[in-house]
Amino acid sequence: MSINLDTIVSLAKRRGFVYQSSEIYGGLNGCWDYGSMGVELLNNIKNEWWKSMTYREDIEGIDASILMHPKVWEASGHVENFTDPMVDCKECKARFRADQIEESMCGNPAYKGRKASKCQEEGKFTEPRQFNLMFKTFLGSVEDSTSIVYLRPETAQGIFVNYLNIMNSSRQKLPFGIAQIGKAFRNEINTKNFLYRTREFEQMEMQYFVKPNEDMKWFESWEEERMKWFIELGLKKEKLRIVPHPMDKLAHYAKAAVDIEYEFPFGWGEIEGIHNRTDFDLSQHQKYSGKSLEYFDDETKEKFIPYIIETSAGASRSFMTFLIDGYYEEIVRGEKRSVLKFHPKLAPMKAAVFPLVNRDGMQDIAWNITEDLRKSFRIFYDDKGAVGRRYRRQDEIGTPFCVTVDSQTLQDQTATIRDRDSMEQIRISMDSIKKYLAEKLF
Ligand code: GAP
Repeated sequence: MSINLDTIVSLAKRRGFVYQSSEIYGGLNGCWDYGSMGVELLNNIKNEWWKSMTYREDIEGIDASILMHPKVWEASGHVENFTDPMVDCKECKARFRADQIEESMCGNPAYKGRKASKCQEEGKFTEPRQFNLMFKTFLGSVEDSTSIVYLRPETAQGIFVNYLNIMNSSRQKLPFGIAQIGKAFRNEINTKNFLYRTREFEQMEMQYFVKPNEDMKWFESWEEERMKWFIELGLKKEKLRIVPHPMDKLAHYAKAAVDIEYEFPFGWGEIEGIHNRTDFDLSQHQKYSGKSLEYFDDETKEKFIPYIIETSAGASRSFMTFLIDGYYEEIVRGEKRSVLKFHPKLAPMKAAVFPLVNRDGMQDIAWNITEDLRKSFRIFYDDKGAVGRRYRRQDEIGTPFCVTVDSQTLQDQTATIRDRDSMEQIRISMDSIKKYLAEKLF
């Protein structure tokens, strides 16, 4: 089934997953808000990542501040290198990435549907200029060059500068990792494809500190582990691939790198990068801070700067990937059924509870079941409209199970449970609903 991105964007808005930021003012380009279903899905993704990373011996968590000392960004190379070449159209003032003109459209409404390359041929563009993608702001009340700070463009640097703190306080030894989830900001020139490239987004990054001669072993192991994570949470295997970066295209800090890519409706795109960053980051921070970041190996009595293997996923981009991958349409009894087939661990609502009809005390029973289940799960209660319509509403937000109280419930204290994917119903005793859901959901 081929999926149109517009279908996903419209479903996301209609069912409370994602809205354009500041929509009533016409929107803010490259920024999005997560609605009531969206924030649950996003939290579930982040939670699964956090559990997979930190519920183990060798990885510690951290939550570093977004604003950091300006020297961090000099040491990391972002002040100098985190740039895109940009050109401006002298006529309509639209701005393009010089290396993406072929894929861009002219910004002038008068030339609707025209390719930007045509405007370039006609000499309408300025010469390319380097444009730094970091957002600048000022710390404190004085707005001058001494008070400039940046909104972090990646979460990784908060980990590097805390490597000693974490190692000393947690008494970890190599190899060990530090994991972080947090917002990052990039003043992207071209924001496009919904949540794929935005100006404010969230990252889930883990830096794994290793002995220099063990770097490639850990690089390969993390590549495998991260691919497995996406597949275990339900992404279709055939829509995923690993793409190594060619040696001549590696980032300035990397010795080896791969991208995990997903086949989106607009083509293949990166959802996570895995890098062997060598000792570049810690060496740079040692140099710029003047503080020794060397590791002392008790066994060999050697001192060295650890190598770092980085796994860097976008939480927002993963969100969009799970939304697209889960979307499914079919015709059932002459009517379209749209379903989000999320893995139960990711589904925003774990179950919905309905009284079949609003009489004979069915509402009270359904409400009591809801209250009881809510002690453990996120549950939706619905007593409005035909039950078939209620099922469809839950399918559309990806609720794995619907519990219905009917006239038989009044006689034998059983209820039906309908499975989202097979649409099959079974009947179980009301007492065992919680246990049934717990087994199926986690
Ligand atoms: N610390 C390494 C780093 O930041 P990156 O490839 O620039 O590497 C890692 O970013 C991940 O962050 C990407 O795979 C993507 O999922 C996400 N990401 C990067 N820029 C983004 C943007 N403008 N909008 C949404 N997600 C983005």
